[in-house]
Amino acid sequence: MTDLKALQDEISAKLAEIKDAQALESLRIFYLGRKGRVADLFHEMATLPREERPRFGQELNRLKEFAETAFRKKQQSLTLFLAAKSAFDETLPGITPRIGRLHPITQTIHEITEIFSNMGFEIVDGREIETEFYNFTALNIPLDHPSRDAFDTFYTEQGHLLRSQTSTVQIRTMENRKPPIRILAPGKVYRPDAVDASHSFMFHQIEGLLVDERTTFSDLKGIIHLFLRKLFGKNIQMRFKPHFFPFTEPSVDVDISWGKGWLEILGAGQVDPAVFKAVGYNPAKVQGFAFGLGVERIAMLKYGIKDIRLFFENDVHFLEQF
Ligand code: DAH
Repeated sequence: MTDLKALQDEISAKLAEIKDAQALESLRIFYLGRKGRVADLFHEMATLPREERPRFGQELNRLKEFAETAFRKKQQSLTLFLAAKSAFDETLPGITPRIGRLHPITQTIHEITEIFSNMGFEIVDGREIETEFYNFTALNIPLDHPSRDAFDTFYTEQGHLLRSQTSTVQIRTMENRKPPIRILAPGKVYRPDAVDASHSFMFHQIEGLLVDERTTFSDLKGIIHLFLRKLFGKNIQMRFKPHFFPFTEPSVDVDISWGKGWLEILGAGQVDPAVFKAVGYNPAKVQGFAFGLGVERIAMLKYGIKDIRLFFENDVHFLEQF
């Protein structure tokens, strides 16, 4: 008795190899034609003992239906394939797939955090919705003090605010840990600034904080210098300018130069004893330094971008370039 299962597999295998309509028709005639294999099998059935005929007949009918469906499907897919093939013009330029990538701000954050993790800094997260305590009071910015204006922000009706600086993470970290501390905190900050080529109501900062029994200003200077050399290259020049920040004393603005003119790039200083007191540290027992930088500013310098708004318009033609 012919093995119908083997025949079914044979038909499937042969069909899979067919690539044109003519070959398909020959194959169809070979199996399903009036004198084809299936027809032969129906004749063969007559030679079987009477009691075996019904089962064989049933299976043979099943095979026939299977083969007819398989040929019909092959016919359809071949028609589609041939139509697509004739429409294909190999002289046309290819279609480049759009590959996603990290936003240039994210890339810049990664680059900076990697430099600092290599120096032993741990990357930590803060909160974007904050209270006055973390954004102002604990950072030695009294609520009625004019220095608060520089860090003005958006408030919710419930009295929360959007943080206007990542310095908030200094407080949150020190509250939860004991020195030694070495952290870097990237994230979004918010300010009610009118949007123009160099201002945005939202941008990114990276905060650094190091606290230990004893730290010196030259530690700060060495770390910042190393960071700037890694980021901008060995030829970068750096200078510290005296400045004021409520949470550091002394405070500096750090400028960089490639030879002509100076550019302000970040703020830094020794942690003010008032900040240590706010988190319950004894200022006589610990020292530290902190720094904060604007990510957009650095990305604009690195990539030669003149308008901060480009980062936030989600124009893929711009973003694709990084
Ligand atoms: N928070 C400051 C700002 O938003 C930047 C800053 C300056 C952070 C000095 C610091 C620092 O940690 O020591 O302008």
